[in-house]
Amino acid sequence: MCGIVGYIGSRPVYPLLVEGLKRLEYRGYDSAGVAICDTTARIYKCSGKIRDLEASVSGKDTQGTAGIGHTRWATHGKPNDVNAHPHVSGNGHFILVHNGIIENYSVLKAKLQDRGYTFKSETDTEVLVNLIEYIYLKGKTEAEVAVRLALTKVAGTYGIVVICNDEPGQLIAARRSSPLVIGIGAGEYFIASDTSPLAGQVQSVIYMNDDDVAIIKRNELVLKTLATDEPRIKLHNLNIDTGEFDKGGYDHYMLKEIFEQPVSITNTFRGRLLPDKNEIRLGGLFHVMPRLQEAGRIIIVACGTSWHAGLIGEYLIEDLARIPVEVEYASEFRYRNPVVGPGDVVIAISQSGETADTLAAVRLAREAGALVLGICNVTGSSLSRETDAGVYTHAGFEIGVASTKAFTAQVTVLIMTALLLGYKKGSLTKEQYASFIGELDSIPASIEKILADNEFYLNLAKEFKDFPSFIFLGRGYCFPVALEGALKLKEISYIHAEGYPAAEMKHGPIALMDENMPVVVLALKDKSYDKIISNLQEIKARKARIIAIVNEGDTLVPDIADRVISIPAGSVIFSALLAVIPMQLIAYHISVMRGCDVDQPRNLAKSVTVE
Ligand code: M6R
Repeated sequence: MCGIVGYIGSRPVYPLLVEGLKRLEYRGYDSAGVAICDTTARIYKCSGKIRDLEASVSGKDTQGTAGIGHTRWATHGKPNDVNAHPHVSGNGHFILVHNGIIENYSVLKAKLQDRGYTFKSETDTEVLVNLIEYIYLKGKTEAEVAVRLALTKVAGTYGIVVICNDEPGQLIAARRSSPLVIGIGAGEYFIASDTSPLAGQVQSVIYMNDDDVAIIKRNELVLKTLATDEPRIKLHNLNIDTGEFDKGGYDHYMLKEIFEQPVSITNTFRGRLLPDKNEIRLGGLFHVMPRLQEAGRIIIVACGTSWHAGLIGEYLIEDLARIPVEVEYASEFRYRNPVVGPGDVVIAISQSGETADTLAAVRLAREAGALVLGICNVTGSSLSRETDAGVYTHAGFEIGVASTKAFTAQVTVLIMTALLLGYKKGSLTKEQYASFIGELDSIPASIEKILADNEFYLNLAKEFKDFPSFIFLGRGYCFPVALEGALKLKEISYIHAEGYPAAEMKHGPIALMDENMPVVVLALKDKSYDKIISNLQEIKARKARIIAIVNEGDTLVPDIADRVISIPAGSVIFSALLAVIPMQLIAYHISVMRGCDVDQPRNLAKSVTVE
């Protein structure tokens, strides 16, 4: 959460900072600010989005070729002008942008107050910038030394970029748990929370590791760690199509990303799913396959939508490969003293690869000796660098805060993994394996068919947009899809929604059923179809409004449900990939009709890098 961008070189810095911040805006959009600092620093910041910052800066002096910028997701203090970053130290020597949380800020603040410091904002960041200045002035030392010393006194997480007004022409960056990547150009450097601001600007990047400190000048980059002066530089190529940052003619990124799914799923299995050879090849798992096959247990850790994908993974792996699987919220796993050890395989799923709880769960599992694998969308992310092996989802940049194409890509990877494991372990026959491979290959075409009915979902949304609450029900593979449908609706339309296993309805939620409660029921033709028909009758008897998602050709459900959505028929293991699409579309259209900010819903950020 929070996006940081910095630049030092010979180009005008302000447009680069603003463009970079726009690409990072998904990380937080409560307030924004920039500091332009070649000689005398100019700081502009305000509450609101980047467009509000641009409006407030219009006509002001933005000349300069070095600077830093920040887009904020508020942790400590309201999203107002004063709490916006950059923050300046009391005597004006330092300017700083920060992503993360300084956990011991109140202790440090009290100490600084005892030494005469006063604070303008409610932020933990202002404490850090003053701590740096205090050490700098007291020790009569260089800026770099003051930054490194200050960071040894800090508990918590940070990605920071610091400017010292006494040492112009230099940016100092450091990270612990909050990502930072350095972009390397000719006589110029960028620094950013992820690679998106660097796309189209540089070809080479360095992903900073925890405890790295970078001293960046126009013609020199020095990378150290907090503890040593040892440089550790590993260059990576950056290859991102800047077209990914356009809305591509759609009104919102979310809609673009929903419609991209036939292509993004194809990209996920490209070169991995080989229908001609009846083969699945997951290069990233090649070396760990024997250990994965022998695993006594697999534990999947994730958060939010990725956790829903993990639940589907549990059903898939147990069903197809007969390996016991547990799925855990990463935030619970990391703190509940779990039993995990060398016999286990832990799979961490994360779109961003930067979710703080998921990364902490990964570290815990690795320390306990488990083999840790990652399923991740963002190349070079912390997750991809901290796991033993893994599979990229290759869904392309997902910018809408509500996850859509990343979810279907995760499920696609999990399907391929489960099929491969099932075949290797002998729980799937060659024929079954080949048949599933062929069916997965045809999923993008089935999704195209669902998307072609967009108008139908628009009308459905018109009919249901004003209901204050929804329930989503499903069984088996469709239960996690019900959870995902509820999450999509609540996070972008602010309508209360709950997902439940359909049979659990009788144990509580049925008390909510009346004519004012729309119930979205996944009633696909699987082994619990008869049971779900009974559930539908029970709901109808309570006069609730039923929206049923069925397989094409269903003749029973249309007699019971108020509205029926038909999706192509197929094997149950692919249910999630198809059934989630109508839910994404309904949530999207309802959100638009209710005037909500679809791509940047209130209080959320895409990448949750704080606990
Ligand atoms: O980047 P991650 O997949 O680790 O993110 C996990 C969740 O924060 C994320 O899925 C969140 O729930 C989305 N807003 C859901 O649409």
